[in-house]
Amino acid sequence: MAAGDGATIRQEHELEFTTNGEAEALLFDLRGGWCRPQTQAFELTPPNPSLQIQAFKLQETPMSLQLQTIIASTRPGRIGPSVGDWFHTLASAHGAFQSERVDLADFQLPVYDEPQHPRTQQYEHEHTRVWSRSVASADAYVFVIPEYNYSAPPALINALDYVYAEWNYKPCAFVSYGGASGGLRSAQMARQMVTALRMMPIPEGVMIQMPWNHLDDARRFVPEPMHDDSARGMLEELARWAHALQPMRDTTAGAL
Ligand SMILES: Cc1cc2nc3c(=O)[nH]c(=O)nc-3n(C[C@H](O)[C@H](O)[C@H](O)COP(=O)(O)O)c2cc1C
Repeated sequence: MAAGDGATIRQEHELEFTTNGEAEALLFDLRGGWCRPQTQAFELTPPNPSLQIQAFKLQETPMSLQLQTIIASTRPGRIGPSVGDWFHTLASAHGAFQSERVDLADFQLPVYDEPQHPRTQQYEHEHTRVWSRSVASADAYVFVIPEYNYSAPPALINALDYVYAEWNYKPCAFVSYGGASGGLRSAQMARQMVTALRMMPIPEGVMIQMPWNHLDDARRFVPEPMHDDSARGMLEELARWAHALQPMRDTTAGAL
């Protein structure tokens, strides 16, 4: 930790500095979780004798909020990972969250097969316990979803059904894709469902029309500026909700 002569402010995980004037804007950014990258040192120049620097313990560390980017299509040959990898890379660089890429296909969840209601968390199957731990570890989610028959993909609906408390009081957003609709109908359907799981689906989203026209030779998704811009706006709003809902999550049971 180094405060130098009062002209240099360095933010580390457990401490922050406040000052007046210009530095208060910096503090606001840190509380919003928008500084990037986490190890960045911030400098205020020139030295201003009127700055009064105080150091105090952070009660909560904004940068520790966990985001999961969940790729929600599972079929062989799917385009989901191309879109999901683009968004995960952007989210990691953005810095509002610690970002994790989650591929629903890796969990190989069968059609819902738990005998007890998920509210009980009496899980009989190991695949459910693994999924429960994964869901519980996040503070917010971005679902990367295609549109199937004007609807959300069944793999996502199935995965949402599997657990309950693990989703509660967390915000979520959607990167949707499809034909001319850009998956909007799929995202709207999923928004309705997640409210039953006490999630907060934010209105901001990313809509991608015909993503197969945006793949390079390595099947990487190559975004338009509009995709990047809407993704960043969505992340900033998602971070506000993730912070605001933190007290509700703190008083609620999570995973087993
Ligand atoms: C079963 C099925 C139904 C589909 N229905 C729609 C649809 O209603 N609207 C749409 O825009 N695209 C539809 N599509 C096209 C998908 O948007 C496109 O195949 C996309 O790549 C699917 O995502 P995925 O490759 O990650 O599975 C459908 C595709 C499948 C396989």
